[in-house]
Amino acid sequence: MTAEIHATRGDITKIGVEAIVNAANSSLLGGGGVDGAIHRAAGPDLVHECRLLGGCKTGDAKLTKGYRLSAKYIIHTVGPVWRGGTNGEPELLASCYSRSMEIASKKGIPSVAFPSISTGIYGYPIELAAEVAIATVRSATQKFANIQEVVFCCFSDSDLAVYQGLLHAPSV
Ligand code: AR6
Repeated sequence: MTAEIHATRGDITKIGVEAIVNAANSSLLGGGGVDGAIHRAAGPDLVHECRLLGGCKTGDAKLTKGYRLSAKYIIHTVGPVWRGGTNGEPELLASCYSRSMEIASKKGIPSVAFPSISTGIYGYPIELAAEVAIATVRSATQKFANIQEVVFCCFSDSDLAVYQGLLHAPSV
């Protein structure tokens, strides 16, 4: 079965999927942007579990429970800071998506929502990041066939337009 991959605009803390992905920092102890929103919505037990994880390297991902979220799990990943694009940023960003998909698949999670990792505080240009996100998730759904649905949760209409354009383009 082919996974359903689509984009929507909204707040990722309110999405009805089994796991949401957090664009965290390497401490995993919370921050601004989507990370702050997820920690606020999940409640204080989340940071207690995160403290036990020993941080996370850029490009890697780690799983926690979702606590007060409707999502059962949170996959925390650490995107690269944009430094012009020639410092391994595309490979590290792709790794965030593929490691998150691998963790979801191993846990038997059927539906996953991603924010637009690295494109806020970390400054990765949205058009370039969305290409990496879509291409990596498409190939990961072939490899991890038990994942049935992937949602790209965009926070703005302009980000959603970028994702929609690429998802409907003949080839990415
Ligand atoms: N739902 C969905 N997307 C959101 C939400 C939300 N509730 N809130 C923000 N976004 P950012 P980064 C979008 O800055 O660039 C944190 O401090 C936002 O508009 O959250 O990977 C971490 O602790 C943007 O499109 O993450 C790190 O230090 C996208 O989420 C650092 O920021 C990602 O923006 C990570 O920076």
